[in-house]
Formats: sequence, structure tokens, C-alpha cells
Amino acid sequence: MLTADTARWYDLFTDPQTADVDWYVARAREEGGPIAELGAGSGRITVPMARAGVDVHAVDISAPMLDRMALRLQGEAEAVHARIERFEGDMRVFGHDEAYQQVFLPYRSFLHMATAQDRHQCLWNAWRILKPGGRLALNFFHPEPGVLQRASGDQARAWWDLGVHEGADGTVVRCQQQGRLDLLNKVMHMRFRWVEEREEEARVVEEGFTAGLVFRDELVLHLELAGFALEEVRGDFEGALLERADQEVVVTARKVS
Ligand SMILES: C[S@@+](CC[C@H](N)C(=O)[O-])C[C@H]1O[C@@H](n2cnc3c(N)ncnc32)[C@H](O)[C@@H]1O
Repeated sequence: MLTADTARWYDLFTDPQTADVDWYVARAREEGGPIAELGAGSGRITVPMARAGVDVHAVDISAPMLDRMALRLQGEAEAVHARIERFEGDMRVFGHDEAYQQVFLPYRSFLHMATAQDRHQCLWNAWRILKPGGRLALNFFHPEPGVLQRASGDQARAWWDLGVHEGADGTVVRCQQQGRLDLLNKVMHMRFRWVEEREEEARVVEEGFTAGLVFRDELVLHLELAGFALEEVRGDFEGALLERADQEVVVTARKVS
């Protein structure tokens, strides 16, 4: 579970990523709000959508991430504040019937649904809270051979460097990741190790979560079972065809029944 520190470090490493932000903001503008953003985190995508003039209900199970969103909102125009409501809640149960024009599950939030039952509950709930004809948009990564191999056998004990962030005050934050494959349950047990070095001191914090492993065709079945019609599946945020397992899966679907 994220803490105030790990939520802050998460932002250092994730904020530079913008391709997905542009894609979700474009979808937000196209069909408008209100949008339920499930797994909204610290608002990396929420705030730009609100700046684009769309009302967003930002839902996250982590209070520290929602606190970071409040910080991110400091200095934003009053109109941007007014378009965002933050909710500490669970994507499997959040919201009221037919309340939303669109539901977004950005940046792999859906993989926090570690079992088929959780995934169905989450998608069924998204269907329930969408207006008829409303749109669902999400993205996630495939369990491609490279990822699976790195999370198997001896390699599962290795730490993989995700990068280093050097702050203006001389603080250095390193992030490493470990993944352990659990094929019986079709999940990956992920651990993150954060090392913060400030002057002579180093602080090490580890935390983890379990990610579901989801294949494209499995998602399509999940969507159909939950009452969605698949609209588009792409292999990145620029519209590439999904042709390889190592591409990001970017999906839109519509509530049809
Ligand atoms: C990878 S982060 C994405 C955050 C943000 N959307 C972004 O793009 O930076 C996934 C988020 O999903 C949240 N989350 C995990 N399980 C959840 C659940 N059951 N309901 C709501 N949020 C959840 C986590 O707390 C985390 O903030």
C-alpha cells in the first residue's frame, strides 16, 4: 500500500510520462463528462482533463495518492478545482447507476484486479455507472515472454533498475522493481524498492502489490460478459496496430446493453 513517501516518489518517476495523458485528455474532450476515473492516483491525468474543461470524479483506494492530487491542484485556477471531486473508494463498487458519460481506467490501474472475479466486478461496475452508450477507456501491459522470464526462477529474486531521480536540493531517489510470477494464480507479485539518499543518509523503503496477468483476448471476453461492445484496440497511444505482445494494450469499448 502506498504511503505519503512512496506516493511522492511515484510522482517523480511517473510525471514525465505524457503520451497517455494526451490520449486520455483527447478522449475526455471528444465525448465530455462527467468522467469517473478509476485508479486516478495523484491526478497526473485528472488535472489535465479538468484543465480541458471536463468534470472528473477521481477515485482511488489510496488516501496518500489522493493527498498528492490535492497538492498537485495547488496553484490551479478555481475552475479546475471545481471540475474535480476526489473519492477514496474501490473501483469495484464506486458510484451510482448511469451517472457517467465516460469511465477511464488509466495507466494499468485495471491490473490491480488480480482475479477474474475482481476484473468482472470492476468492468460490470463500470458498465453500471455509465450512461447508456457511454464509453470505457483503459490501458494495460501484456504478460509478454520477456516480462514472464524476468519474473521466473532465479531471475525473480533480481532487482531491476527503473531509474534515478536527482532533485534540485541534491536528494537522489532510486527505484528498483522485482516481479515474481505465480502461474497457478495467473498473477505477478510486484515489489518496489525505493532508496532515498540525502547528504550522508540513505533510506530504503520496500512495498508491493499483486498484479493480474491479462491477455488481449481475455479482456475482450471480460468486456462482452460485462455488457460492452469493443470499439477499438491499439498497441500504443499514437494509434499503432496491436501486433506484438510487448506493446501496451489501449482499449475503448461502449456500453450497449
Ligand atoms: C499505476 S497507478 C495509476 C495512477 C494514475 N492513474 C496515473 O496515471 O498516474 C494505479 C492506481 O490504482 C489505485 N488502485 C489500486 N487498487 C484500487 C482499487 N481497488 N480501487 C481504486 N483504486 C485502486 C492505486 O492506489 C494507484 O493509485
